[in-house]
Amino acid sequence: MANPLFILFFFSFLTNPSLSQLDDFSFSGFKHVSNNMSLSGISQIQNNGILRLTNHTSRLQGHAFYPNPIKFKNSRTGKMVSFSTAFAFAIVPEYTKLGGHGLAFTVAADKELNGSLPSQYLGLLNANDNGNFSNHVFAVEFDTVQDFEFHDINDNHIGVDINSLVSNVSVNASCFNNGGSVKEELYLKSGKTIQAWIDYDSGRNELNVTLSLTSVKPKFAVLSYNVDLSPIFRDYMYIGFSSSTGLLASSHYVFGWSFKINGEAKSLDLSALPSLPGPKKNHTALIVGVSVSAVALVVLAGVLALYLVHKIKNMDVIEDWELDVGPHRFSYKELKKATKGFRDKGLLGFGGFGRVYKGTLPNSGTLVAVKQISHESKQGLREFASEIASIGRLRHRNLVQLLGWCRKKGDLLLVYDYMPNGSLDRYIYDEPKMILTWEQRFKIIKGVASGLLYLHEEWEQAVIHRDVKAANVLLDAELNGRLGDFGLAKLYEHGANPSTTRVVGTLGYLAPELTRTGKPTTSSDVFAFGALLLEVACGRRPIEPKALPEELILVDWVWDRWKEGGILDVVDSRLGGVYDEVEAIMVLKLGLMCSNNSPMTRPTMRQVVMFLEGEVALPTVLAPLDEYDSRKDISFQFEDYVHSYAASSYFEKVSSWSSIGDGSGDVDVEAGSTSSLCGKGDSR
Ligand SMILES: *[C@@H]1O[C@H](CO)[C@@H](O)[C@H](O)[C@H]1NC(C)=O
Ligand SMILES: *[C@@H]1O[C@H](CO)[C@@H](O)[C@H](O)[C@H]1NC(C)=O
Ligand SMILES: *[C@@H]1O[C@H](CO)[C@@H](O)[C@H](O)[C@H]1NC(C)=O
Ligand SMILES: *[C@@H]1O[C@H](CO)[C@@H](O)[C@H](O)[C@H]1NC(C)=O
Ligand SMILES: *[C@@H]1O[C@H](CO)[C@@H](O)[C@H](O)[C@H]1NC(C)=O
Ligand SMILES: *[C@@H]1O[C@H](CO)[C@@H](O)[C@H](O)[C@H]1NC(C)=O
Ligand SMILES: *[C@@H]1O[C@H](CO)[C@@H](O)[C@H](O)[C@H]1NC(C)=O
Repeated sequence: MANPLFILFFFSFLTNPSLSQLDDFSFSGFKHVSNNMSLSGISQIQNNGILRLTNHTSRLQGHAFYPNPIKFKNSRTGKMVSFSTAFAFAIVPEYTKLGGHGLAFTVAADKELNGSLPSQYLGLLNANDNGNFSNHVFAVEFDTVQDFEFHDINDNHIGVDINSLVSNVSVNASCFNNGGSVKEELYLKSGKTIQAWIDYDSGRNELNVTLSLTSVKPKFAVLSYNVDLSPIFRDYMYIGFSSSTGLLASSHYVFGWSFKINGEAKSLDLSALPSLPGPKKNHTALIVGVSVSAVALVVLAGVLALYLVHKIKNMDVIEDWELDVGPHRFSYKELKKATKGFRDKGLLGFGGFGRVYKGTLPNSGTLVAVKQISHESKQGLREFASEIASIGRLRHRNLVQLLGWCRKKGDLLLVYDYMPNGSLDRYIYDEPKMILTWEQRFKIIKGVASGLLYLHEEWEQAVIHRDVKAANVLLDAELNGRLGDFGLAKLYEHGANPSTTRVVGTLGYLAPELTRTGKPTTSSDVFAFGALLLEVACGRRPIEPKALPEELILVDWVWDRWKEGGILDVVDSRLGGVYDEVEAIMVLKLGLMCSNNSPMTRPTMRQVVMFLEGEVALPTVLAPLDEYDSRKDISFQFEDYVHSYAASSYFEKVSSWSSIGDGSGDVDVEAGSTSSLCGKGDSR
């Protein structure tokens, strides 16, 4: 007869989590467990053993769970266990710096996560159940998109999510390297293998998240949060990963994973994990079998070479093409003098590309604006500079004239006509010092349209501006609108450092096809111009986080009012009703036509100018905005837009010139890599 005590012991042995082998595993790659993982969505285990949660397809999700539930609580006492996990992951965005949305280590009551949505929901929850206490979902998110809706702090953060995507706590992604105590920024989207440790101590109710680019666990956690997880966890929970893509996509990979209950999970040896095929580094050992004197000689030669390189680097660099006819080449000395040594007092502002100083040319006394562009990539700078010769020959009364330039080390200095009235955005958003009248606005719009038409069609090559926005429209002494910064956007496509790169194109001005194709066209410029038209008429940003939800996205709001027959409701109320109704309706309708999701449905700049000049009447019926891609849910895409482009880490507070009000919703993002100067017929 079995001893009842023994039976009790036996059962507690079965149910005591710390004694079960299942609760302690370490996978170096997923090859040998490829049949043992529960995968759903588009996740798969590749032949090389890498767990790929998502690929570069938009708006999808991927889940991968450990197949058996883990016992997290003592059923009798309800006491939580401690747990610890380590995993190695990488996020490889579709375009170098544009990707979405992120991945999350997930503990959930079931492994299907039924009803979960991609994009900002990370495949975890949906709009209805977000925040519901009955979800029993705990996640640590590695998020690469800033969602205003969920109060994300930026587009590169880690956060603790309890039943909700509004993180209970979040911090910038960072790590302590080499056992040190100096916190360094960690760029999640870099494509590098990152090891993460998540440790929960149920005695102290303490949750830690630690990150590293190495196999060694740093001493300090980057996120430490006091929380009692026992109300959130059920007795048995599933553990795994969830990930999603949005309008923009990243591939999310997991290379290895370890887990342990009531103990510390084994750190992963990154060198033993499968890795992504990529540009192979050369590890050729350099064997130098020479005598000491030869080594000394080599050292001496090296020092000499370094000295020469240093000398050359500090000279103004002049190359053959630079001597071609084109804009004037200034000497650095001249510009230093003009700006009184680039002092802060003369700073007009700083935009996506660099600082802008006011200056006076020493000889002529001409007022100029000097834009200083620093670029990590000398190659990029060089390639770009070679285009200055052609850009400098562009001449139109509605373009800000490039007078000349200078290159010194990694800096490029561009000298422009000084525009005394600064940039247009200062006059339309928030509380401007001066409200532009309708007449002034209409004149500015017509001017910009004419400048853009010149770039697109009237010069020897079609020039795509790529960054048409209010901040790039400058006002001269007579308040004529002039486009600035043309061609500059291209600079950032030449292999810049991902962590500091500005993305080219701006939230709300970026045509939807751009994020798919990455190829800017005259038609994507027209889209941005459409956003500008609506902004100027309505006196607000294309995406205004402070607006009512139904007014959040300007183009949708204008469209709705237009459909309901109340289009004049959207006209800037600060005009006090003083404006030409016919012109206002035309500008708004034209704005809607240019904002069409289909590039083929948008008018050309030539047509736009003809409409604005009253040479042709606008059609009475407008094509629906979303005619283009019936396969996709466009309203969702637009929503996605807000989330995808809100990279507030790139905000820059500015005064004028290339400036962006307080930054809300106005963010630079980079897309694609094609030439801004291309053959004429190529542009549509
Ligand atoms: C995978 O599952 C099978 C059957 O369920 C089991 O025999 C095997 O040990 C498991 N492998 C691992 C590595 O967990
Ligand atoms: C991503 O995966 C899905 C499902 O496996 C597949 O249909 C799609 O073609 C893949 N996309 C890319 C870009 O590989
Ligand atoms: C989730 O959906 C699957 C398939 O539709 C179903 O088999 C499963 O029972 C669902 N799970 C839950 C927890 O509702
Ligand atoms: C939370 O979810 C439960 C079960 O799905 C549901 O009955 C309840 O109404 C939800 N609560 C809220 C506030 O939505
Ligand atoms: C944080 O976690 C608790 C549960 O511990 C939850 O009730 C609360 O709503 C969470 N969210 C925030 C934003 O604090
Ligand atoms: C969390 O990290 C801190 C150091 O950053 C450490 O002192 C503490 O013991 C850690 N707690 C757990 C549960 O790992
Ligand atoms: C977090 O990152 C943002 C940029 O995204 C930066 O402005 C901010 O200073 C960082 N905060 C901390 C505490 O490092």
